[in-house]
Amino acid sequence: MAKNIRYEPSRTLNEFRLLPGHTTISTTIDKISIKTPLVYSETDNKKYFLNIPIVSSAMQSVSGEKIGIELAKLGGAAFIFCSQTIKSQAEMITKIKNYKAGFVVPKTVSPYISIKKLYEIRQHTGYSTFPVVDDNNVFLGLITKYDYDVLVHGPQKVIDRMIPADKIEIGMEITELKQANSLLIETHQSVLPIVDKEYRLLYLVFRKDIRDHLNNPLEVVDEKKRLLAVAAINTHDYKERIPALSEAEVDVVSIDSSDGFSFYQKETIEWINRHYPELPVIGGNIITSEGFDFLIKAGACAVKVGMGGGSICITQEQKGTGRGLATAIIKVCEARDRYYTSTGKYIPIIADGGISNAKDIVIALALGADYVMMGRYFARMEESPTEKVIINNRVMKPYWGEGSSRAREWKSFRYNQVKFVEGVEGFVEYAGPLRDNLEETLTKIKSTMATCGVSNIQELHKNAELELVSALSIREGKVHDIHLPGEGTEGQYHSRIWGDGFSNR
Ligand code: IMP
Repeated sequence: MAKNIRYEPSRTLNEFRLLPGHTTISTTIDKISIKTPLVYSETDNKKYFLNIPIVSSAMQSVSGEKIGIELAKLGGAAFIFCSQTIKSQAEMITKIKNYKAGFVVPKTVSPYISIKKLYEIRQHTGYSTFPVVDDNNVFLGLITKYDYDVLVHGPQKVIDRMIPADKIEIGMEITELKQANSLLIETHQSVLPIVDKEYRLLYLVFRKDIRDHLNNPLEVVDEKKRLLAVAAINTHDYKERIPALSEAEVDVVSIDSSDGFSFYQKETIEWINRHYPELPVIGGNIITSEGFDFLIKAGACAVKVGMGGGSICITQEQKGTGRGLATAIIKVCEARDRYYTSTGKYIPIIADGGISNAKDIVIALALGADYVMMGRYFARMEESPTEKVIINNRVMKPYWGEGSSRAREWKSFRYNQVKFVEGVEGFVEYAGPLRDNLEETLTKIKSTMATCGVSNIQELHKNAELELVSALSIREGKVHDIHLPGEGTEGQYHSRIWGDGFSNR
């Protein structure tokens, strides 16, 4: 006989709806803050905040350095995947930390290649402006698509058509975007080359990018104004991986595992806290209050919640373990709140797996989560690390689980313990640039918070009223009983109007 059999089923996010609260002058959309703590920190609680309650999953098909940079600029964070070599993960972290808004490390060309060759490089890379440098990277000039016509100048050399360096305004060792901007404004140039004292090329600053970059008020940065970088780790090679990540100046690490209630995690967290006491560790995933108490006792600074709910996940089918995400959040948040009352330490909770749109996010937050992690949502974006493919005339991107055989290939030679898969691989519909999608999602989250009459996530935790809804009521909440012109099914209509990834579940 089992120790405990619960007859009350666990609940998913989609089974809850929020009741409206009183919207006041201080809870209109423009007044709402969705700032949220990333981890608990004894020493520097100010540093570890996100400006939006969203991070991307530590997955090969989701979180590379491009999403890492773009999401941090927009207020969130990508958890850079650890199912890769230590060296390549550390390089990704370095790229995020070294990223300077608006400062582009450009593709350079030699002055002696032909215009025809340059044209081929342009076709291949999609860039239209190339700095010309010598073998020591000394800046010699610029060549743009307006400086040649491949049909006329094809056989000539780049040096014959480029604008030479002495005719171009150059920024010497400029590090501030505002300074580069004021120089650019005075010139008629669309681009400003930045060089060091020996005239070696460092960056290009494009006029068209500047507004964009000055317009990232939610950017998440460290004390030196560099983007915040978060890396996933595993419980096998952490003694080698952490030193390399720390060298790359990672800000936070997160243990990536489907089951965090284990002595492996305890050992990993304790080792990190002993050897790298300044480096916050996120533990997980867990789905019970006992799991929370265990990880906090071990020294985790935040906890990831969810098992079996991911869109690519077959853990429940393979192992029979899991819990509806709503119930998991409620149970863990109860333990977190108890811990806060008794110690004064607030541990952020991350809801993870099966969250695909604004509605899911705001319900997870209302139940007590501090931010959410999403995989499928981000896999669809331009900035995810995969290439677009056309399938049945639709633009798609591949998406696969970290427990799928595809993801596990990288380490099969090293950790031969895996005998079965816990994830699948498939495709998701391409959604375009992250910035546009996120803006729509965040507007919907704020709009719900306004309806609930709360102006920040802490108030949402305190004042939200949720109600379980019946299956009939969920059906009624969708388009029903009308014929939509040009549409086959209600489901199609839904996926058209809910651009942030509504799936007709
Ligand atoms: P999604 O947002 O519904 O696509 O779920 C993404 C989440 O699923 C990740 O953040 C992980 O917690 C989890 N996950 C990733 N890969 C696998 C897998 O192969 N099997 C089970 N869960 C996975």
